[in-house]
Amino acid sequence: MKKSIGRDKIKTAIFISGSGSNLKNLIKFSYKRNSPVSIKLVISNKRNAKGLKYANQKKIEKKIINFVRPKESEKKILSLLTKRKIKFICLAGFMKILSSNFIKKFNGKIANIHPSLLPKYKGLHTHKKVLENNEKFSGCTVHYVTAKLDSGKIILQKKVKISKTDTENTLKRKIIKQEHKLYTNAIKKIFN
Ligand code: GAR
Repeated sequence: MKKSIGRDKIKTAIFISGSGSNLKNLIKFSYKRNSPVSIKLVISNKRNAKGLKYANQKKIEKKIINFVRPKESEKKILSLLTKRKIKFICLAGFMKILSSNFIKKFNGKIANIHPSLLPKYKGLHTHKKVLENNEKFSGCTVHYVTAKLDSGKIILQKKVKISKTDTENTLKRKIIKQEHKLYTNAIKKIFN
């Protein structure tokens, strides 16, 4: 992908649905000199997504789009992305599936973070399934988004060791810490 030069950072949108710890971390990263991206827009499908407060704190434009009628919602989002000259999208805990039509319009320009070592454990309830299967390792993956769920080309992956005492919650906490590092490293890898 095109390199970001000097202050000419790539205008980026982040899509969220929930607590927004990845969003918070990406915003923090975006202010660093070595960040190739600048966060210009936050989209949430949930009005009460906790993560929206981070957009508020930094006065980043935010939009709530409820996806009750997905086609209409995507049309609204696409129009906003065009108006704001957004060139890159990061999905960060965004729990809606984007249509292939939407993805085609941003082909190769949407990244997602998933809390497993893809291609293992696609979809929901990752940590629960991993523990039920007595896995020794789990982790997280940043990948490009394609029309097939959690299946696009992998950009970076980080392995996390599971201990015997891990519960869904402790594993989630361990992995999310790694997610934060992984997402910023993946963005650097994409643009450098
Ligand atoms: C993260 O663990 C992310 O990997 C996961 O949702 C969480 C969002 O946390 N995403 C998915 O499961 C997508 N399939 P956050 O809102 O605190 O960033």
